[in-house]
Amino acid sequence: KIIALLTGGTTGEWVVSVKSAATIGQNLDADKFEVYKIMLTQQGWFYEPADSVKIEVDRNDFSLTIQGRKIKFDGVFIAIHGSPGEDGKLQGYFDMLGLPYTTCDAMTSAITMNKGYTKAIVQDIDQLNVARSAQIFKSSPYDIAQLKRDLKLPYFVKPNNGGSSIGMSKVNHADDLQAAIDKAFNEDSQILIEEFISGREFTVGVVKLDGKITVLPATEVETAKEFFDFEAKYTPGVATETTPAKLRPETRDRVAKIAEAVYMKLNCKGVVRIDFILSGDEADFYFIEINTIPGQTATSFIPQQVAAMGMKLNDFYTKLVRETIG
Ligand code: DAL
Ligand code: MG
Repeated sequence: KIIALLTGGTTGEWVVSVKSAATIGQNLDADKFEVYKIMLTQQGWFYEPADSVKIEVDRNDFSLTIQGRKIKFDGVFIAIHGSPGEDGKLQGYFDMLGLPYTTCDAMTSAITMNKGYTKAIVQDIDQLNVARSAQIFKSSPYDIAQLKRDLKLPYFVKPNNGGSSIGMSKVNHADDLQAAIDKAFNEDSQILIEEFISGREFTVGVVKLDGKITVLPATEVETAKEFFDFEAKYTPGVATETTPAKLRPETRDRVAKIAEAVYMKLNCKGVVRIDFILSGDEADFYFIEINTIPGQTATSFIPQQVAAMGMKLNDFYTKLVRETIG
Protein backbone atom coordinates (compact mmCIF):
# COMPACT_ATOMS: atom_id res chain seq x y z
CA LYS A 1 0.00 0.00 0.00
CA ILE A 2 1.13 3.51 -0.76
CA ILE A 3 0.38 5.66 2.26
CA ALA A 4 0.64 9.41 2.76
CA LEU A 5 1.57 10.21 6.34
CA LEU A 6 0.21 13.69 6.72
CA THR A 7 1.54 15.92 9.48
CA GLY A 8 2.16 19.56 10.44
CA GLY A 9 -0.99 21.67 10.62
CA THR A 10 -1.92 25.23 11.33
CA THR A 11 -2.27 25.39 15.13
CA GLY A 12 0.13 25.48 18.06
CA GLU A 13 -0.16 21.68 18.22
CA TRP A 14 1.82 21.23 15.00
CA VAL A 15 5.00 20.55 17.01
CA VAL A 16 3.24 17.63 18.67
CA SER A 17 1.94 16.44 15.30
CA VAL A 18 5.46 16.26 13.89
CA LYS A 19 6.54 14.07 16.82
CA SER A 20 3.47 11.86 16.47
CA ALA A 21 4.21 11.38 12.77
CA ALA A 22 7.81 10.44 13.62
CA THR A 23 6.61 7.57 15.85
CA ILE A 24 4.08 6.42 13.27
CA GLY A 25 6.61 6.64 10.41
CA GLN A 26 9.12 4.56 12.34
CA ASN A 27 6.51 1.91 13.08
CA LEU A 28 4.84 1.48 9.71
CA ASP A 29 6.56 -1.66 8.43
CA ALA A 30 8.53 -0.98 5.26
CA ASP A 31 7.68 -4.41 3.83
CA LYS A 32 3.96 -3.62 3.95
CA PHE A 33 3.74 0.11 3.34
CA GLU A 34 5.42 2.59 1.05
CA VAL A 35 5.18 5.73 3.16
CA TYR A 36 5.52 9.34 2.01
CA LYS A 37 5.59 11.87 4.84
CA ILE A 38 3.87 15.08 3.83
CA MET A 39 4.09 18.27 5.84
CA LEU A 40 1.10 20.58 5.76
CA THR A 41 2.15 24.20 6.37
CA GLN A 42 0.70 27.65 5.77
CA GLN A 43 3.07 27.88 2.78
CA GLY A 44 1.91 24.66 1.15
CA TRP A 45 1.79 20.86 1.45
CA PHE A 46 5.19 19.34 0.85
CA TYR A 47 6.90 16.00 0.57
CA GLU A 48 10.44 16.50 1.81
CA PRO A 49 12.82 13.78 0.61
CA ALA A 50 15.98 13.60 2.70
CA ASP A 51 18.28 13.90 -0.30
CA SER A 52 16.56 16.43 -2.56
CA VAL A 53 14.36 19.50 -2.75
CA LYS A 54 10.83 19.44 -1.42
CA ILE A 55 7.97 18.63 -3.75
CA GLU A 56 4.55 20.22 -3.50
CA VAL A 57 1.44 18.06 -3.44
CA ASP A 58 -1.06 18.55 -6.26
CA ARG A 59 -4.17 19.38 -4.26
CA ASN A 60 -6.50 18.64 -7.17
CA ASP A 61 -6.06 14.92 -6.59
CA PHE A 62 -3.66 14.76 -3.63
CA SER A 63 -0.90 13.29 -5.73
CA LEU A 64 2.85 13.74 -5.91
CA THR A 65 4.97 13.83 -9.00
CA ILE A 66 8.50 12.66 -8.32
CA GLN A 67 10.97 12.75 -11.20
CA GLY A 68 8.15 12.58 -13.71
CA ARG A 69 6.43 9.67 -11.94
CA LYS A 70 2.99 10.42 -10.57
CA ILE A 71 2.26 8.84 -7.21
CA LYS A 72 -1.33 8.33 -6.14
CA PHE A 73 -2.02 7.14 -2.64
CA ASP A 74 -4.11 4.22 -1.43
CA GLY A 75 -4.91 6.11 1.76
CA VAL A 76 -3.85 8.77 4.21
CA PHE A 77 -2.61 8.37 7.75
CA ILE A 78 -3.60 11.71 9.27
CA ALA A 79 -1.20 12.75 12.06
CA ILE A 80 -2.29 16.33 12.58
CA HIS A 81 -3.63 17.36 15.98
CA GLY A 82 -6.06 20.27 15.79
CA SER A 83 -6.98 22.04 12.55
CA PRO A 84 -7.20 21.01 9.75
CA GLY A 85 -6.52 17.34 10.62
CA GLU A 86 -8.70 16.70 13.64
CA ASP A 87 -11.66 18.97 12.95
CA GLY A 88 -13.12 17.43 9.81
CA LYS A 89 -11.68 19.77 7.20
CA LEU A 90 -9.20 17.31 5.70
CA GLN A 91 -11.67 14.48 6.19
CA GLY A 92 -14.18 16.36 4.01
CA TYR A 93 -11.51 16.99 1.39
CA PHE A 94 -10.44 13.32 1.30
CA ASP A 95 -14.09 12.21 1.16
CA MET A 96 -14.53 14.35 -1.94
CA LEU A 97 -11.47 12.72 -3.52
CA GLY A 98 -12.60 9.24 -2.46
CA LEU A 99 -9.39 8.65 -0.53
CA PRO A 100 -9.69 6.58 2.67
CA TYR A 101 -8.03 7.80 5.86
CA THR A 102 -7.28 6.55 9.36
CA THR A 103 -9.54 8.81 11.40
CA CYS A 104 -13.17 9.51 12.26
CA ASP A 105 -15.28 10.92 9.42
CA ALA A 106 -15.78 14.62 8.72
CA MET A 107 -18.86 15.10 10.84
CA THR A 108 -17.61 13.20 13.87
CA SER A 109 -14.27 15.02 13.66
CA ALA A 110 -15.99 18.41 13.45
CA ILE A 111 -18.27 17.72 16.39
CA THR A 112 -15.67 16.14 18.64
CA MET A 113 -13.21 18.99 18.05
CA ASN A 114 -15.73 21.12 19.92
CA LYS A 115 -15.71 20.23 23.61
CA GLY A 116 -19.07 21.85 24.35
CA TYR A 117 -20.98 20.19 21.49
CA THR A 118 -19.43 16.82 22.32
CA LYS A 119 -20.57 17.03 25.93
CA ALA A 120 -24.10 17.76 24.77
CA ILE A 121 -24.12 14.52 22.76
CA VAL A 122 -22.52 12.14 25.24
CA GLN A 123 -24.08 13.41 28.45
CA ASP A 124 -27.04 11.03 28.40
CA ILE A 125 -24.83 7.93 28.23
CA ASP A 126 -25.48 5.71 31.23
CA GLN A 127 -23.14 6.45 34.18
CA LEU A 128 -21.43 9.30 32.35
CA ASN A 129 -21.39 12.74 33.97
CA VAL A 130 -20.23 16.07 32.59
CA ALA A 131 -19.10 19.12 34.53
CA ARG A 132 -21.56 22.03 34.61
CA SER A 133 -20.46 24.62 32.13
CA ALA A 134 -21.31 27.62 30.00
CA GLN A 135 -20.32 28.35 26.41
CA ILE A 136 -19.59 31.89 25.28
CA PHE A 137 -18.89 33.29 21.84
CA LYS A 138 -16.66 36.16 20.80
CA SER A 139 -19.35 37.41 18.44
CA SER A 140 -22.07 37.78 21.10
CA PRO A 141 -22.11 39.68 24.37
CA TYR A 142 -21.77 37.73 27.59
CA ASP A 143 -22.57 38.65 31.16
CA ILE A 144 -19.56 37.83 33.29
CA ALA A 145 -21.37 38.59 36.56
CA GLN A 146 -24.06 36.09 35.57
CA LEU A 147 -21.46 33.45 34.71
CA LYS A 148 -19.91 33.88 38.13
CA ARG A 149 -23.32 33.49 39.77
CA ASP A 150 -24.22 30.42 37.70
CA LEU A 151 -21.01 28.44 38.10
CA LYS A 152 -19.15 27.40 41.21
CA LEU A 153 -15.41 28.10 41.53
CA PRO A 154 -12.82 26.95 40.62
CA TYR A 155 -13.32 27.04 36.85
CA PHE A 156 -11.55 25.63 33.87
CA VAL A 157 -11.62 28.06 30.96
CA LYS A 158 -10.89 26.40 27.62
CA PRO A 159 -10.88 27.31 23.95
CA ASN A 160 -13.76 25.14 22.75
CA ASN A 161 -11.86 23.81 19.73
CA GLY A 162 -8.37 23.61 21.21
CA GLY A 163 -5.96 20.89 22.21
CA SER A 164 -2.93 20.17 24.38
CA SER A 165 -4.24 22.72 26.94
CA ILE A 166 -3.16 25.66 24.77
CA GLY A 167 -5.00 28.84 25.87
CA MET A 168 -6.48 27.09 28.87
CA SER A 169 -6.53 28.34 32.49
CA LYS A 170 -7.68 27.17 35.86
CA VAL A 171 -9.39 30.00 37.69
CA ASN A 172 -9.39 29.90 41.48
CA HIS A 173 -10.59 33.47 42.11
CA ALA A 174 -13.55 35.10 40.39
CA ASP A 175 -11.44 38.21 39.77
CA ASP A 176 -9.23 36.20 37.42
CA LEU A 177 -12.05 35.01 35.16
CA GLN A 178 -11.87 37.91 32.70
CA ALA A 179 -8.14 37.43 32.08
CA ALA A 180 -8.69 33.71 31.50
CA ILE A 181 -11.51 34.45 29.03
CA ASP A 182 -9.32 36.93 27.14
CA LYS A 183 -6.51 34.37 26.95
CA ALA A 184 -8.82 31.67 25.60
CA PHE A 185 -10.35 34.08 23.06
CA ASN A 186 -6.84 34.56 21.67
CA GLU A 187 -7.00 30.92 20.53
CA ASP A 188 -10.63 30.50 19.57
CA SER A 189 -13.86 32.40 19.02
CA GLN A 190 -15.75 30.04 21.35
CA ILE A 191 -15.00 29.28 24.96
CA LEU A 192 -16.10 26.73 27.47
CA ILE A 193 -16.17 27.71 31.15
CA GLU A 194 -16.48 24.59 33.23
CA GLU A 195 -16.78 23.90 36.92
CA PHE A 196 -13.66 22.15 38.16
CA ILE A 197 -14.22 18.51 39.13
CA SER A 198 -11.91 17.30 41.82
CA GLY A 199 -10.80 13.71 41.51
CA ARG A 200 -8.27 11.44 39.84
CA GLU A 201 -7.50 12.08 36.19
CA PHE A 202 -7.37 9.30 33.60
CA THR A 203 -7.26 8.81 29.88
CA VAL A 204 -8.21 5.76 27.88
CA GLY A 205 -7.70 4.80 24.25
CA VAL A 206 -10.42 3.13 22.23
CA VAL A 207 -9.80 1.59 18.84
CA LYS A 208 -11.56 -0.55 16.31
CA LEU A 209 -9.27 -3.31 15.05
CA ASP A 210 -10.24 -6.44 13.13
CA GLY A 211 -13.82 -5.13 13.14
CA LYS A 212 -14.00 -5.11 16.92
CA ILE A 213 -13.97 -2.19 19.37
CA THR A 214 -11.16 -2.58 21.91
CA VAL A 215 -10.70 -0.41 24.98
CA LEU A 216 -7.01 -0.03 25.84
CA PRO A 217 -5.75 -0.10 29.44
CA ALA A 218 -6.38 3.31 31.05
CA THR A 219 -3.60 5.62 32.21
CA GLU A 220 -3.71 7.66 35.40
CA VAL A 221 -2.10 11.09 35.22
CA GLU A 222 -0.77 12.89 38.25
CA THR A 223 0.97 16.23 38.27
CA ALA A 224 2.15 18.57 41.00
CA LYS A 225 1.21 21.47 38.72
CA GLU A 226 -2.13 23.25 38.93
CA PHE A 227 -3.36 21.07 36.06
CA PHE A 228 -2.05 18.87 33.26
CA ASP A 229 -0.95 21.77 31.06
CA PHE A 230 1.17 21.87 27.88
CA GLU A 231 4.43 21.68 29.84
CA ALA A 232 3.24 18.77 31.99
CA LYS A 233 1.98 17.01 28.86
CA TYR A 234 5.20 17.18 26.89
CA THR A 235 8.07 17.55 29.36
CA PRO A 236 9.19 14.13 30.57
CA GLY A 237 9.10 13.91 34.36
CA VAL A 238 6.63 16.74 35.00
CA ALA A 239 3.70 14.34 35.24
CA THR A 240 3.52 10.80 36.57
CA GLU A 241 1.69 8.48 34.20
CA THR A 242 0.66 5.01 35.34
CA THR A 243 -0.44 2.46 32.75
CA PRO A 244 -2.41 0.37 33.43
CA ALA A 245 -4.00 2.63 36.02
CA LYS A 246 -4.56 1.19 39.45
CA LEU A 247 -8.31 0.81 39.56
CA ARG A 248 -10.60 -1.68 41.20
CA PRO A 249 -11.67 -4.34 38.69
CA GLU A 250 -15.29 -3.21 38.74
CA THR A 251 -14.24 0.39 38.05
CA ARG A 252 -12.04 -0.78 35.18
CA ASP A 253 -14.96 -2.64 33.64
CA ARG A 254 -17.28 0.33 34.11
CA VAL A 255 -14.77 2.70 32.50
CA ALA A 256 -14.37 0.36 29.54
CA LYS A 257 -18.12 0.12 29.11
CA ILE A 258 -18.61 3.88 29.18
CA ALA A 259 -15.64 4.48 26.84
CA GLU A 260 -17.04 1.99 24.32
CA ALA A 261 -20.45 3.65 24.56
CA VAL A 262 -18.86 7.05 23.80
CA TYR A 263 -17.02 5.59 20.79
CA MET A 264 -20.24 4.10 19.45
CA LYS A 265 -22.46 7.09 20.18
CA LEU A 266 -20.09 9.44 18.33
CA ASN A 267 -19.67 6.94 15.48
CA CYS A 268 -15.89 6.95 15.87
CA LYS A 269 -13.35 5.26 13.63
CA GLY A 270 -9.68 4.47 14.12
CA VAL A 271 -8.05 5.21 17.45
CA VAL A 272 -9.38 7.86 19.82
CA ARG A 273 -8.60 8.76 23.41
CA ILE A 274 -11.09 9.80 26.07
CA ASP A 275 -10.02 11.97 29.02
CA PHE A 276 -12.03 11.69 32.21
CA ILE A 277 -12.03 12.27 35.95
CA LEU A 278 -13.13 9.83 38.60
CA SER A 279 -14.47 11.72 41.55
CA GLY A 280 -15.29 10.36 44.96
CA ASP A 281 -13.87 6.94 45.73
CA GLU A 282 -13.89 5.73 42.10
CA ALA A 283 -17.56 6.65 42.24
CA ASP A 284 -18.45 9.08 39.47
CA PHE A 285 -17.13 9.12 35.92
CA TYR A 286 -16.85 12.66 34.48
CA PHE A 287 -16.25 12.93 30.74
CA ILE A 288 -13.77 15.71 29.94
CA GLU A 289 -13.20 15.34 26.21
CA ILE A 290 -12.38 13.01 23.36
CA ASN A 291 -9.32 13.33 21.12
CA THR A 292 -9.94 11.76 17.75
CA ILE A 293 -6.28 12.11 16.76
CA PRO A 294 -4.58 11.34 20.04
CA GLY A 295 -0.89 12.06 20.52
CA GLN A 296 1.46 9.35 19.28
CA THR A 297 4.78 10.82 20.38
CA ALA A 298 7.24 8.30 21.81
CA THR A 299 6.03 9.12 25.34
CA SER A 300 2.31 9.61 24.55
CA PHE A 301 -0.48 7.65 26.19
CA ILE A 302 -1.55 5.57 23.20
CA PRO A 303 1.90 3.96 22.68
CA GLN A 304 2.04 3.31 26.44
CA GLN A 305 -1.40 1.72 26.42
CA VAL A 306 -0.68 -0.41 23.36
CA ALA A 307 2.46 -1.71 25.11
CA ALA A 308 0.49 -2.36 28.31
CA MET A 309 -1.94 -4.43 26.26
CA GLY A 310 1.00 -6.55 25.09
CA MET A 311 0.84 -5.44 21.48
CA LYS A 312 3.75 -4.18 19.41
CA LEU A 313 3.31 -0.68 18.05
CA ASN A 314 4.02 -1.75 14.47
CA ASP A 315 1.33 -4.44 14.69
CA PHE A 316 -1.06 -1.86 16.10
CA TYR A 317 -0.49 0.57 13.23
CA THR A 318 -0.68 -2.23 10.67
CA LYS A 319 -4.08 -3.29 12.00
CA LEU A 320 -5.21 0.33 12.20
CA VAL A 321 -4.35 0.92 8.54
CA ARG A 322 -5.95 -2.39 7.48
CA GLU A 323 -9.13 -1.53 9.36
CA THR A 324 -9.51 2.05 8.11
CA ILE A 325 -7.86 2.06 4.68
CA GLY A 326 -8.02 -1.59 3.68
N1 DAL B 1 -4.28 16.83 21.67
C1 DAL B 1 -3.18 15.98 22.04
C2 DAL B 1 -2.23 15.78 20.93
C3 DAL B 1 -3.65 14.67 22.56
O1 DAL B 1 -4.82 14.56 22.80
O2 DAL B 1 -2.85 13.77 22.73
MG1 MG C 1 -7.04 17.10 24.16
